[in-house]
Amino acid sequence: MKEEIIHGDCLIEMQKIEENSIDLTVTSPPYDNLRTYNGYTFDFEGIAKELYRVTKQGGVVVWVVGDATVKGSETGTSFKQALYFKEIGFNLHDTMIWHKPNCFNFGSNNCYRNSFEYMFIFSKGTPKSINLIKDVRTKSEGKLLKGARKHSGGERDTVPDFTVGEYKKRDNVWDINVKSENNGHPAVFPEKLAEDHILSWSKEGDTVLDPFAGSGTTLKMAKKNNRNYIGIEISQEYIDIINKRLSTQK
Ligand SMILES: C[S@@+](CC[C@H](N)C(=O)[O-])C[C@H]1O[C@@H](n2cnc3c(N)ncnc32)[C@H](O)[C@@H]1O
Repeated sequence: MKEEIIHGDCLIEMQKIEENSIDLTVTSPPYDNLRTYNGYTFDFEGIAKELYRVTKQGGVVVWVVGDATVKGSETGTSFKQALYFKEIGFNLHDTMIWHKPNCFNFGSNNCYRNSFEYMFIFSKGTPKSINLIKDVRTKSEGKLLKGARKHSGGERDTVPDFTVGEYKKRDNVWDINVKSENNGHPAVFPEKLAEDHILSWSKEGDTVLDPFAGSGTTLKMAKKNNRNYIGIEISQEYIDIINKRLSTQK
């Protein structure tokens, strides 16, 4: 298996990655200088173009972001970034929401509690690996449902009759509690979030990239699920956390 942890600026380090070689990226960039992560900033447009170059045809990029509020207005950076990804050739496959039921951010007095981040799913062409997670219990298991007929009234079913199974696919709003992992990094995302995207958009033996690796959550879940991984992180302090975390990972 390929297991690469690179200390450096992802804009420069991604230039060394072969084009069309990455099956899946799961990442969360620093957003709106909300946290300064030891003072590092990043060139969004340059990085988005590099992501397009290194992604395989049919590969997917999961971009987890939120917006800061500046002088009473949300910045809208997440939307601008999503539109830019489309401009450079990505398909916006889905706009998903990470809802944090246990979120402790009460925000300002004149807004509702801010309890979510976007999870934009971009793909280079049609995604080549889709394994939607079916873990929602159905209410009518075993019931035979009639398939849908064509509008023309033709004989052939567009969807054949089917029997309702025990589970159906979940919706695109994922409830995942924020974990206070306290591994020394200020913005760790939950392991379940990374793992469920890895399972949804890649298969065993694929290569998963995280250009903003932080404490290495995506890398840890890629390893656990038999994927190759490449992680890039600019801060030596966080590289040390990744190495420690992955050395205990089976
Ligand atoms: C939101 S955090 C990622 C957290 C990660 N998802 C986790 O679970 O630990 C963003 C990370 O990007 C890193 N970073 C910022 N600019 C960078 C750059 N140009 N190249 C590589 N890493 C960068 C920061 O040091 C920070 O650790």
